[in-house]
Amino acid sequence: MIIDLLELSNFRNYSKLKINFSPGINIIYGKNGSGKTNIVEAIYVLGITKSFRNINEKNLIFKEKEQAKIKGTIKYNGKNKYEVDLTKEGKKVLINNNKVNLLSEYISKIPIIVFAPDDLRLLKDTPIVRRRFLNIELSFYDKNYLKNVAYYNKLLKQRNSYLKQTLINSNSSSDYLNILTEKLFEYGLLIYEERSKFLNYINDNINKYYSKISKEGSLKVKYVSNFINNKEKMLDNYQKYYQKELNFGKTLLGVHLDDIDFYLDNNKVKEWASEGQLKNIVVSLKLVELQLLYEQNGYYPILILDDLFSELDKDKINNIIKLLPSDSQIFITTTELSKIKKNIKENSKLIKVINGRVEE
Ligand SMILES: Nc1ncnc2c1ncn2[C@@H]1O[C@H](COP(=O)(O)OP(=O)(O)OP(=O)(O)O)[C@@H](O)[C@H]1O
Ligand SMILES: [Mg+2]
Repeated sequence: MIIDLLELSNFRNYSKLKINFSPGINIIYGKNGSGKTNIVEAIYVLGITKSFRNINEKNLIFKEKEQAKIKGTIKYNGKNKYEVDLTKEGKKVLINNNKVNLLSEYISKIPIIVFAPDDLRLLKDTPIVRRRFLNIELSFYDKNYLKNVAYYNKLLKQRNSYLKQTLINSNSSSDYLNILTEKLFEYGLLIYEERSKFLNYINDNINKYYSKISKEGSLKVKYVSNFINNKEKMLDNYQKYYQKELNFGKTLLGVHLDDIDFYLDNNKVKEWASEGQLKNIVVSLKLVELQLLYEQNGYYPILILDDLFSELDKDKINNIIKLLPSDSQIFITTTELSKIKKNIKENSKLIKVINGRVEE
């Protein structure tokens, strides 16, 4: 999947932009604040309809303007035109000039994987961030996954409020609790199996990438869950935890508490790894995902590497570039073009950004 042409109007600091990309590597370079991330952000919004930055969407529109437009020509089985129009009230999406009413129908069309500086939170922050990661990524592979998560969360809410009520009024019916617990197990199992499969695949493949980037250290990924994929044992555990759950007024077992542990040479990454190592770990993770999506779809998603190279030494940068599949389209933003080897630059499209303008 390739984006051929991108046209922006009133998006971020671009009042007008029209640019063609290479089907291979595109290197977007320029000073801080010039508008490099804005270009890859526009590509992401064109595909996913949202930014990868944690921001108020109103800021995507050029200051004091009413509407931003992003148009792109996507090459895959012919050429198709995609468009996202953003106004302060909401957004509209079009394919070949026809309005698409359901965002979910539009979003699944252009798969994009992005590395953004914020992604280091995946390793450093609380488990909520990693569960969110699992939910977003798994929704690419299985259409029912998010529905199952939503249903699980609804059951969890009902079960928690039952536990709170029972604490006050001990006459509540235990039949109702048993039904909720069984249902919670049923949906928990669906989620657990998807997450196990995904994280096993990541664990089986990630070190292959990491060791080629960093040349030392061995990386492992472990799924952490107090869920057991055995109904009898799991229901037994709920029995054992019943008193504790009543005291806390909430459900203490299940996939809503899942986490992922990363280990570098058996040391917990969160407590051990340097900034550079953290970046290499996250980029290895993205490369495994790229491989997985390729195996599933038969084509590569678009890959965006935003500001990946700051803090990495020249060797690591060029090791990463060597690992990028040659038939995938890649966008790299950097302030330091000199860190990229000459032969790679010669085979890439170089795009220089100066304050909301582009020189090709
Ligand atoms: N809605 C907007 N309207 C006009 N300008 C905007 C808007 N939002 C952001 N900007 C400008 O865009 C610039 C930031 O662009 P961007 O994030 O792409 O920079 P960058 O080139 O990636 O910089 P860095 O190297 O620091 O990551 C800022 O200078 C900011 O003033
Ligand atoms: Mg940037």
